[in-house]
Amino acid sequence: MASHFCKVLFFIFFSKRVNFGYFDENREITIEFALDFCAISHYNDYDIKIGGTGELGELIAVLSGKGGTGKTSVCAGICTALAMDGCSVLAIDCDMGLQNLDISLGMSECGALSFVDVSEGGYDLSQAAKHPQFEKLSFLTAPINRSAESIDLEAFHKMIRQARKCFDYVFLDAPAGIDAGFELAARYAQRIVLVTGADPGAVRDAARAGQKLELMGQTNVRLVVNRVNKRLFSSMATTVDDIMDQTGLPLIGVVPEDHNVILSAAVQIPLLSYSKRSGAVRALRSIAKRIEGENVPLSMK
Ligand SMILES: Nc1ncnc2c1ncn2[C@@H]1O[C@H](COP(=O)(O)OP(=O)(O)OP(=O)(O)O)[C@@H](O)[C@H]1O
Ligand SMILES: [Mg+2]
Repeated sequence: MASHFCKVLFFIFFSKRVNFGYFDENREITIEFALDFCAISHYNDYDIKIGGTGELGELIAVLSGKGGTGKTSVCAGICTALAMDGCSVLAIDCDMGLQNLDISLGMSECGALSFVDVSEGGYDLSQAAKHPQFEKLSFLTAPINRSAESIDLEAFHKMIRQARKCFDYVFLDAPAGIDAGFELAARYAQRIVLVTGADPGAVRDAARAGQKLELMGQTNVRLVVNRVNKRLFSSMATTVDDIMDQTGLPLIGVVPEDHNVILSAAVQIPLLSYSKRSGAVRALRSIAKRIEGENVPLSMK
């Protein structure tokens, strides 16, 4: 018990050192974690992630303004890249009614539980579907017959906090638009990945999404410019710099137009298994490394 007590003190101390921008939230969770920990007589590494660092996992929402910019493809690509790097990842589809993250992950045959089955239905996070190839990757789909407005926020938040104790990264793939589904995904996130295309409509909607996130108090927002086609860029006389200027957001990655994204989804194989070295794969693996904190230079051509 004495050693448990020391570990509890360590966690409370450590909570002051992690994710400074989200100090209060993390401290609340870490203290709760410490108390949970106290109640456990036989500590089990498998049930509660310590990950060697004592940090809670990070919740990352993948959002856009305009629909069809590539949120789901980018979310699946980053999740598989992180799992390939040895991180434990939970991918959650928040696109209720139109869910298709399972396809991009190559998990449509897995019979996955929905996140509402866990948050409101009494299932355990350990029952989330496991990826057949990437053992560190788990998945919860979106419920079919529910609207974002009908989700029990308290239960959702509780599930997310539990997930952050069990996984290094928890990803939420948001629906298009900036209404209730957007808010559900963004509300508790530590980091936002905002995906845009280069067309004026997508860029303007990304700027609006960025403004809405600011109003929600979300400042850790990074842009992914997806489907970049150099030739199209030069005929449109636009650059990634212009898109950053117009949205007012810093960049975390540029993903090229790559037919492998469409082909891999068509055969329901994860992009990173389908093509090891295509342009999109290299870009998504670099984004994953940046999320892990590595300094991978950005190519902004
Ligand atoms: N880098 C890319 N290169 C080529 N095609 C891509 C790329 N990224 C996404 N796509 C294709 O664009 C289409 C839309 O992608 P996706 O479903 O990921 O977008 P989304 O933002 O999640 O859409 P929604 O708003 O409907 O949820 C898909 O057909 C996908 O295969
Ligand atoms: Mg989608």
